[in-house]
Amino acid sequence: MLSYQHAYHAGNHADVLKHLTLMSVLKKLTIKAKPMFYLDTHAGAGVYQMDDENGALNAEFERGVLKFQSLLRNSNNEIVKDYLAITSGFTKAKQYPGSPIIADYLLRETDNAHAADLHPQASQDLKKYLRRSKLSAHQRDGYEALNAFMPPKPNRGMVLVDPPYEQASEYADVYKAITSALSAWPNGCFLIWYPLLSPTRVDRKTKEVAENPKAGLSEEMIAKLGALAAKSVLNIQLCVSQPSPQIGMYGSGMCIINPPWKLEQDLSGVLATLQTVFAGDKDKDTSHLCQVNWIKTEV
Ligand SMILES: C[S@@+](CC[C@H](N)C(=O)[O-])C[C@H]1O[C@@H](n2cnc3c(N)ncnc32)[C@H](O)[C@@H]1O
Repeated sequence: MLSYQHAYHAGNHADVLKHLTLMSVLKKLTIKAKPMFYLDTHAGAGVYQMDDENGALNAEFERGVLKFQSLLRNSNNEIVKDYLAITSGFTKAKQYPGSPIIADYLLRETDNAHAADLHPQASQDLKKYLRRSKLSAHQRDGYEALNAFMPPKPNRGMVLVDPPYEQASEYADVYKAITSALSAWPNGCFLIWYPLLSPTRVDRKTKEVAENPKAGLSEEMIAKLGALAAKSVLNIQLCVSQPSPQIGMYGSGMCIINPPWKLEQDLSGVLATLQTVFAGDKDKDTSHLCQVNWIKTEV
């Protein structure tokens, strides 16, 4: 079932967190001149229009990337500065760049880089936007692509896993795919995005408050990923509000398996800036809403 369309959510707070984390990891991995492998298993359409009927419906980008740009125009953080430089050209044209476009800015011609999406329209758009990029676009199941590339050439690099989680079964799909990929590529770096969902939500049809059947599934998945045979696992989260039935997704996070050396220092700086923009009330201590935690550290 491929009903999810990222255009409704492009440029929201979760995209900002995801894309800043992606940039932080890519910046570390591209310090060395040696080529790397890159795979985006759920790449989306590449570029999203913010003023068409999909983007404008909830205007999530206004409370996401546009708010971030306006409040952090003078930031000294290098990753934030680069994110602003990449996104500002797009947002001026009422567009938002997705993960493969952002990755293209940081990858090199020598890298072996791929982006997959299964949706016919999304993958057609992806092929169009990646025509002159360093990434090859594929209409393909992301997990099948991941399995086919393992172990990758070259043996250093990263994989971004960013599924829609429309079906509850997708959490188990991620765990299964990562378990298998990690056994073939024990030193691979995997970035897994996940939503933080309120325990109850207002039912769209009945308008009544009902239990959210997917609440807690991300937390379960992260605990299981943390127990895998990886050297280290880092987890970062950004909550933009308290859980509430009115706000289904109150935040999101990234689980990073085998993060590059000292990544947590860069991410702490990024999270500190995200906190000033998204973590609500200036008069209250909101530091608990933004977190960088080791689930597992190298011994
Ligand atoms: C959250 S969006 C991706 C957003 C993108 N990574 C970004 O940050 O710009 C999820 C995408 O996964 C695609 N998708 C869903 N199931 C898939 C599968 N099994 N394999 C590959 N892509 C899939 C959807 O078509 C959708 O475009």
